[in-house]
Amino acid sequence: MTDRTDTPNQEPIPTPNFIGMLIECQEDALAVIADSNKAADVLRIELLGAKSSLSKLTRQIRLVPDADRAQVGTVVNDVKKSIIDAINKKGASKINDLRSSFDPTMPGIRPPEGHLHIVTQAIEEITRIFERISFIRVRHPEVDWDWYAFGALNMPANHPARDEWETFFLETRDKKQATRKMVLTPHTSNGQVREMEKKKLPIRMINIAKCYRRQIDVSHTPMFHQFEGLYIDRNVSIGHLKGVLDYFVKQFFGPERKARIRPFHFQFTEPSFEVDISCGVCNGAGCKLCKQGWLELGGAGMVHPAVLTNGGIDTTKYNGFAFGWGVERCFMMKAGTHLDDIRLLYSNDVRFLRQF
Ligand code: PHE
Repeated sequence: MTDRTDTPNQEPIPTPNFIGMLIECQEDALAVIADSNKAADVLRIELLGAKSSLSKLTRQIRLVPDADRAQVGTVVNDVKKSIIDAINKKGASKINDLRSSFDPTMPGIRPPEGHLHIVTQAIEEITRIFERISFIRVRHPEVDWDWYAFGALNMPANHPARDEWETFFLETRDKKQATRKMVLTPHTSNGQVREMEKKKLPIRMINIAKCYRRQIDVSHTPMFHQFEGLYIDRNVSIGHLKGVLDYFVKQFFGPERKARIRPFHFQFTEPSFEVDISCGVCNGAGCKLCKQGWLELGGAGMVHPAVLTNGGIDTTKYNGFAFGWGVERCFMMKAGTHLDDIRLLYSNDVRFLRQF
């Protein structure tokens, strides 16, 4: 577009010339609008703004003979209006183009979809399995008084058995401002006496919670989960315990798997057992993974009378069994998971998590 206003012109402009320049200005502007992809606002500033050729030309209207000024003014207005209309029309057709190219029936882009963490899935599965035999899922504190985690479980202060739990301790003050020890619970057994204190018998508890121990390697993370079963009623026998173990093993690991119990020692159960399950790879025959056909699952036993007494239960009428196993450990021993490092579960690598 040629700029007709580069040199300030003080000479009078004959009316036909001025109108000719206006028309030229209009033609240039309409050509720009037709060719351009610019937004309506940008075009408006470029073609009608203070710095546009049209505005500069309009400012020279005073050089047109006085008598013709009104007539020229109408032409200026008409030119402006035609430019505005052209810009508006272009804008509208752009929106129409967009509307006609938008197909609302086209499938959208699916946002990535997550799922529950595998440990949460395992916790839910374990909960459902025990619910079917009337065990109720409960929650007990994950940071608890030393008493519930050890003392009430027959492990008085400084008892060497505590070393096996490699615990994180906290020093806190109780209501009377006395210093007392709390622990990040190293097992879910703190739930045993807490559940007994509810004074509702019989007890069929499954307490699933986070546990903490000072250990990290392929089979340990400092934070992990355990599920603790507790059954207190009249005349409970080791046979009942074995029945529940077999039931759980078949439900969780598969009908071909078997459970066995071996004598062991815990301060809070008497007798105590270590529970094994038949290896899923060799089915009990013995292989590289299991050595002798069995894999260690966790501890169990008949609740020690001292623990029952600490929970306020009359040991002449009631007795029971308890067991406590690792959720992650169970998940890893499930056929088909092929997990050889427990830390993978908490690596938060979606490529790993997506597989489950
Ligand atoms: N609390 C024990 C542990 O963490 C397991 C256990 C629970 C043993 C209940 C016996 C009875 O190793």
